[in-house]
Amino acid sequence: MTEITNPRQVVLITTRAKAVVMGKEKENDNIFTIDWHMPTSFSPRLYAISVGKERFSYELLKESGCFVVNFMSPEYEKEILYCGRHSGRHIDKFKESKLTKEDADNIDCPRIKEALAYIECEIINQLETGDHVIFVGKIINSVLKNKGKRLFHKTGDDFTTTID
Ligand SMILES: Cc1cc2nc3c(=O)[nH]c(=O)nc-3n(C[C@H](O)[C@H](O)[C@H](O)COP(=O)(O)O)c2cc1C
Repeated sequence: MTEITNPRQVVLITTRAKAVVMGKEKENDNIFTIDWHMPTSFSPRLYAISVGKERFSYELLKESGCFVVNFMSPEYEKEILYCGRHSGRHIDKFKESKLTKEDADNIDCPRIKEALAYIECEIINQLETGDHVIFVGKIINSVLKNKGKRLFHKTGDDFTTTID
């Protein structure tokens, strides 16, 4: 199917919430990779992300009610694959990927300093779609820091980018 639907722009979603890990509740700042995301309304301004129910991030999103969409340049392909192939349940992906954590401007959530652009969202709706849930976020803040090239996922380890 990805031969038909891709390439798609790949982004990193950051979340912050308490969750029980190994029997202990702790606060978690996490990063995970997604291909499935889109703007979905002008008024109000909304952005949707599709999240597998087995992801640690799914639990965090349910609890936190907010997320940041981080748009990355092609030089972060390795970090993007790392965050999409490891669960944050038992590791700190900020630490392991060496992506720099900073606080979002308007929501209680981390974001990635190296990102070219961010969209900060408060979750206003959820829709079950098979094994994924679409979280619909109201855009609280959006920042375009740099108009650099973006990374697009083809399939597996294969990526491409924009011309400019
Ligand atoms: C290129 C790429 C695209 C991905 N797209 C999605 C996606 O759209 N939705 C999703 O739920 N998971 C997607 N994943 C899988 C998650 O990123 C992966 O399961 C991740 O380890 C979840 O981390 P977590 O358990 O810390 O939340 C993708 C992974 C990769 C490598």
